Amino acid sequence: MAEIFVAIDGPAGSGKSSISKQAARRLRYNYLDTGAAYRALAWWVLERGMSPADSDAIVEALPDWDYDIGVDPDEYFVTVGETDITEAIREPRVSSAVSGVARVPEIREHVNALFRSIMRSAPRDGIIVEGRDITTVVAPDAPVRILLTASEEVRMARRSAELTTENATEVADQLRKRDAADSRVVDFMTAAEGVVTVDSTTLNFDQTVDAVLDVIRQQTART
Ligand code: DC
Repeated sequence: MAEIFVAIDGPAGSGKSSISKQAARRLRYNYLDTGAAYRALAWWVLERGMSPADSDAIVEALPDWDYDIGVDPDEYFVTVGETDITEAIREPRVSSAVSGVARVPEIREHVNALFRSIMRSAPRDGIIVEGRDITTVVAPDAPVRILLTASEEVRMARRSAELTTENATEVADQLRKRDAADSRVVDFMTAAEGVVTVDSTTLNFDQTVDAVLDVIRQQTART
């Protein structure tokens, strides 16, 4: 059962998923990608032909949403019912729909309860949980809380590097819009009290993982 909780928040493109996953591997901790839950819900809403804007219908249907996620950083998966949607949740149509779904307070309460139960029952000693409101709402008492940031320019450039030039501008636009919509719901751009900021603007991937691991070691040594 996990006893050490590490909360990591940050904007889209800050690299927090890959950094958190790698830090979890190094520490032999579990890893929970909370954004994937919102994406899995948005995917399911689209799949059922519901409108992502119809929050009443979504809230009513929530008990039927049978979602599961892998917390082993080496065996990451996302399923809804029997369907593996690990890849499908990254599709642009899902990215466009997700902010609308994540905006609804009843939905957030429902998924937060799921996150807390997954955190408690995770099999390894510790779990790294990453998202937007983990340091502030989901696990404000976690012994380690980190805000992972990078300048907007660098975040866009990192995302674009994974893409062809034709869709790089489109993706940068979508990322900007999504951050703007999401930050109206939770503030993930400023560190709450007691949250340590790791700015990866001038760091490469390995250096950022090391910086995060340093914070985790320092903060867990203190408790
Ligand atoms: O990290 P991501 O891009 O996979 O997250 C998908 C969406 O879910 C994102 O638009 C914001 C939302 N989200 C949220 O509102 N709260 C979280 N804890 C995690 C993600």
